[in-house]
Amino acid sequence: MSAAAVPFDIHAWQQARADEVELALLQHLPTDAPQPLLAAMQYALTGGGKRMRPMLAFAACEAVAKQSSTALRPGMREAVMRAACAVEMIHAYSLVHDDMPCMDDDVLRRGKPTVHVQYGQAQALLAGDALQAQAFVVLTQDTDTDDALPASAQLRCCQLLSVAAGAQGMAGGQAIDLASVGTDLNQSELERMHALKTGALIRAAVAMGAVCAGANAQERTALDVYGQRVGLAFQVVDDVLDVSADTATLGKTAGKDALADKPTFVSLMGLSGAQAYAVDLVHSAKAALQDAGLSDSAALHALADKIVARSH
Ligand code: IPE
Ligand code: IPE
Ligand code: MG
Ligand code: MG
Ligand code: MG
Repeated sequence: MSAAAVPFDIHAWQQARADEVELALLQHLPTDAPQPLLAAMQYALTGGGKRMRPMLAFAACEAVAKQSSTALRPGMREAVMRAACAVEMIHAYSLVHDDMPCMDDDVLRRGKPTVHVQYGQAQALLAGDALQAQAFVVLTQDTDTDDALPASAQLRCCQLLSVAAGAQGMAGGQAIDLASVGTDLNQSELERMHALKTGALIRAAVAMGAVCAGANAQERTALDVYGQRVGLAFQVVDDVLDVSADTATLGKTAGKDALADKPTFVSLMGLSGAQAYAVDLVHSAKAALQDAGLSDSAALHALADKIVARSH
């Protein structure tokens, strides 16, 4: 008689990786940076983020390698940790700048004063700049590991992350976001804005995880579709939560999108329409994994579900 399948425990899976990611993020900060810049970088990077992008990088890597993170060979494990930290540094920088008065003008993030409130605008600007550069320091640093990621794969990670962060990715999406205040965007315009401003970094997290595991073309394509769909779903849910959740739960001021007259999936489709759209995206993200032989992808499935079911 075969043993009953043990249900996958995403909470335990995340916890096992999250503590190490927190530690690695701190270790990858430049400790000799001048103060208060270093303090502002640390403040921006730590203290309550969900670490969804690092988790997606690990889940993609483990799905391709068909091994859990502790069983990964040391070079691969170090490479995916560096990719995870690098994408989280870019994400943290994007939030620091997103909250500044010249952008969304927010005073609360992760339940604490935003970086410019705590350290002033100049330090916030510099902390964002420095976190962005540090991400690429982390991706390219020398390593003691014998079986380190080949230089070609390291280069590919740098390409993926830099394109995702820049004008064709997050920064481009943020430019569209600011230019769209007070306008009505149609669905394809909104999809483009969200795919760039939020989707691109999430897609890059998944793609870098795949590169670290040496994914083949079929696996890379399937994971890329998955990454695009969960990336878009992530911002659709962010739009939903801005309306449906309260400030204490979110750790950031609720209701800001309507107040700032931003076009969102909620303003386009209504609350239940946007929720249903996010659920559809996540279904199709999971379906994309099926044909690529990515059978060990319970974590990718569970993270996709978390993206729509999250409370903050
Ligand atoms: C918030 O991202 C901003 C968006 C890109 C939607 P997260 O919801 O991942 O923020 P943290 O890192 O968990 O605080
Ligand atoms: C953020 O979108 C996208 C980024 C690139 C940071 P939002 O402006 O909706 O994110 P929150 O709601 O402030 O976290
Ligand atoms: Mg914004
Ligand atoms: Mg914002
Ligand atoms: Mg938002």
